Parts: sequence; structure tokens; C-alpha cells
Amino acid sequence: MNDMTTTHPVTITEKLQWLENRYWKFGEEENLDDHLHDIFEVDDDGQRTAQPRLDPLTRETRGLMVLGASGNGKTALLMRALRADAVLTEFKIDQGGNTLFITVPPEATIKKLAEIILAKTGYTKVDAKLRAADAWEIARHRFGLVGIKTLVIDECHHILRSGPGRDIPAAIQALKHIMQSEHRVALIISGVPGLKNAILAEPTGETMRRFNELPLSRIRTGSKSAAMFGRNFLKSANTLGVHVDAEDALPERILFAEYGQVGKSVELGKEILRAAITRKCAAITLENAERVFKKSKSGLDMTPFHAADWNVVKAELNAIGWGQ
Ligand SMILES: Nc1ncnc2c1ncn2[C@@H]1O[C@H](COP(=O)(O)OP(=O)(O)OP(=O)(O)O)[C@@H](O)[C@H]1O
Ligand SMILES: [Mg+2]
Repeated sequence: MNDMTTTHPVTITEKLQWLENRYWKFGEEENLDDHLHDIFEVDDDGQRTAQPRLDPLTRETRGLMVLGASGNGKTALLMRALRADAVLTEFKIDQGGNTLFITVPPEATIKKLAEIILAKTGYTKVDAKLRAADAWEIARHRFGLVGIKTLVIDECHHILRSGPGRDIPAAIQALKHIMQSEHRVALIISGVPGLKNAILAEPTGETMRRFNELPLSRIRTGSKSAAMFGRNFLKSANTLGVHVDAEDALPERILFAEYGQVGKSVELGKEILRAAITRKCAAITLENAERVFKKSKSGLDMTPFHAADWNVVKAELNAIGWGQ
């Protein structure tokens, strides 16, 4: 599936819907794909399959840990992979699919996570007195039964929170067991950097060594990701029929304004485009962009959208300590 769909939105409603649904690639898609290549079997054509790679000596699968600060695009990246991937398909009851995507709620314990998996795979006979270990036993069995080969656990750090009634060592072991038991699956977990620290706290390190790591960071000035962001923004503007003057360096200013934080930068970029569409503007000026930016950040004397040469504005903002 192509992320930049080739449809041509015409009406304002169509344009807004098109814009909202846009996933803007920022380069980490390739890195994720590269990691997936290592944790799944590859066929004779070199194509990755949905079959988790098994270590023949241990009969274990491998895991991948996607780490990044809040808003760095972890969820968007993983969900996009499920939409776009040639072999990984999201599991839904009645529809099948080989990959189960779970989002861990903030207060969830390891037992609660097993219960969520049971519910998502259509197992409704959960006894309230079921122990965590038994709930996991059934959950793993369900994977084999319904054909799930990969488990994605988003916001995984929540199950490793400390506090009364929480058993962190057991939670870490449950993660490890997902890759070892009879119905083992490939495991992708995602969370804030503290997720890795929590797993590292296990003295033996036996769970950590089963995971590869994909760290997501901010988009840095001059990087390939920054160039991709610029292309996405301009391509979207083009499809939406809004003119953007390349000399205004709007994408650079947006990244600078949001410190390269992926989620915030995409949000501001889309909001600037949205403002132009809903007001039927044929072009986006720096003044337009500044008005949008000031709605979320008031009280600034000078913003990155100040109507002057970008290098001059950037130097001035750096001089007054922007971003420190
Ligand atoms: N590549 C992208 N294209 C379009 N929108 C994106 C992209 N990356 C992130 N976003 C948007 O930015 C916001 C934040 O991203 P996301 O929720 O994926 O971050 P996260 O790392 O999962 O954060 P958290 O740890 O808080 O869950 C979301 O609204 C998401 O839709
Ligand atoms: Mg998220």
C-alpha cells in the first residue's frame, strides 16, 4: 500500500480527510523493516515471511524493542507497518490475521495483559480467580489456535511499573516466555526509554538479550528525516492545491519550532495546511503559519515564522536561547 495515496481530493471535506489520514514517512520505516528482516524467516527470494525466525538449538523466537520519548511516533510507525506490510496483517476476530496488536492501559498488570489477549482472541470464559500464570498459559495457547505469529505490545512500560501488588520480575519473565513456549511468537514491544531500563533491571539479563533495539529520536536539522519531512509537507501542500514558497523554508521552521519532535512537528505542519484549506487560501505565507503557531504557543515576541530570511531568524532565535 502506498502511503501517499494517489487520490485527488477536491472538496474541502475530502481534502481535510485526506490530510488527517496522511502518514508522513520519516525514515524509520526502513529501519523497522530492516529489524523485521532479522526476526522473521526469509524465503529463497530473500523475501521476509510471517514465520518468526526460530533458533534451532533453543526453539526460541526473537524480540524487538521500539523505544522513544512520548510523541516520537512509535505507535504511528507500528500501526503503519501493519497497514503497509506485505506479510504482517493485524489480527481481528472473524477476520483472522497473523499479528496481534495490544495497547497496554496505564494501570494494567501482567495478568490484565493476558486477559486483554484472551478477550482479543475471542476467549470469553475467563474466571475471575484465574492466576496470572494460568491466564498466560491459555493466552499463549490461543496464539497457536487462532494463527497469531507476532505479538505487538504497545505502551509495554506500563506492565513494568513498580507499586503494591505488582510483580516486575514475573512481568519480565512473561515477556520472555512469549518467545519460548510451545506456541511462541515473534514479540515486538514498544515504550518510553524506561522500558529498556526496567528490563535491564533483571539481574540475569536473560530477557534483554533476546531483544534487538530500535530507538526513535527527534528529527535533527539537516538529517535525512528532516529532508523527508520537508518533502512530505510540500507534497501534501501540492496535492491539496496550496502553494508554498520554497524560499520560506517552512518545513525547517516547523521542525525548529517543535524541536524536531515527530508528533508535534507533523501536527503543526498539518494544522498549517488545514488552516489554509478551511480558509480557502491559495498559498501559505509566513504570516499564516505564524498565526497558527501562536494559537498553541502565545506570548512569544519572535517565532520561527517571523517574516524574514530563515537563516537570520534562526540565528536570532538561537542567540536568545530558543530551545534551551
Ligand atoms: N509519521 C507520522 N505521520 C503522521 N502523523 C504522525 C507520524 N508520527 C506521529 N504522528 C502523529 O503524532 C502523534 C504522536 O505520535 P505517536 O502517538 O505515534 O507517538 P508515540 O511515540 O506513540 O507517543 P506515546 O509514547 O505518547 O504513545 C500522533 O497523533 C500521530 O498520529
Ligand atoms: Mg504511543
